[in-house]
Amino acid sequence: MTRWDGLGHPDGDGVQPVSYGVAALEDSRTPPVLDVREVRKIYGDGDATVHALRGISISVDRGDFVAIMGASGSGKSTLMNILGCLDVPSSGNYLVDGTDVGALDDRQLAILRNRKIGFVFQSFNLIPRMSALANVELPLAYGGVGASARRKRAVAALDQVGLADRIHHDPNELSGGQQQRVAVARALVTAPSLLLADEPTGNLDTKSTEDVLQILDRLSAAGRTIVLITHEDDVATHAKRVIRLVDGQIIEDRRQGPVEGPPPRLLSKVAP
Ligand SMILES: Nc1ncnc2c1ncn2[C@@H]1O[C@H](COP(=O)(O)OP(=O)(O)OP(=O)(O)O)[C@@H](O)[C@H]1O
Ligand SMILES: [Mg+2]
Repeated sequence: MTRWDGLGHPDGDGVQPVSYGVAALEDSRTPPVLDVREVRKIYGDGDATVHALRGISISVDRGDFVAIMGASGSGKSTLMNILGCLDVPSSGNYLVDGTDVGALDDRQLAILRNRKIGFVFQSFNLIPRMSALANVELPLAYGGVGASARRKRAVAALDQVGLADRIHHDPNELSGGQQQRVAVARALVTAPSLLLADEPTGNLDTKSTEDVLQILDRLSAAGRTIVLITHEDDVATHAKRVIRLVDGQIIEDRRQGPVEGPPPRLLSKVAP
């Protein structure tokens, strides 16, 4: 029996402790899941220089649900790529669970990404001609999890997003909303410390948007840490905290609900 329930173990239960082979990088206290310090990102040089991020500092505690908002070109995806360890800042530090990402080599970074971060993209990014089940198993396969444990955990993750009856379907046999739910299952199957979602509902109709947001609400209520990028005010109402970017800077960091406990929209449903 697997101990992992797909929702309730934000500390990565069911996954072997991460070892980067660098003792000095490990920290026995509970640091924030994300600690971004004075991060800047400059693209290009000379006349073509773009200051995409101008000194961003954010600390995100375990269990928080953060929406990052801002107009097109304000630096949201640039920030997301740095948070997801897909890109490096031009200056500043970035720590995940207390580990300074800038101090890791490529192999250590790959391990950190695989174990600590789950990604959901606007365009789903599922592998075509591979079943939902195989797609969700993939990060576990990269993580070295054995075949039978992999299968069990992928089935449990697909069950959590309401797709138990679609596990053998390929992406082109699923609706957009269903594909995004597969992507959420794939992001969660490793029980990551952080779920990062860049416009996860950007390509979805109203009903599918609602389905995906409900899943995020439930994950948040179960203690999962979520950082979501969105253009839409309505999507941001689901978050416990809203950070607004203008021109690569934070102009607002507003709390909509406490870090502990269910997110605002779930709370309003439960309240009399
Ligand atoms: N690889 C790159 N090279 C040069 N400039 C870039 C690059 N990527 C992004 N930029 C610039 O950096 C700024 C921030 O871009 P970013 O993609 O982070 O914006 P965004 O907030 O995600 O916008 P959108 O809502 O349209 O997705 C923009 O001015 C963009 O043109
Ligand atoms: Mg973007």
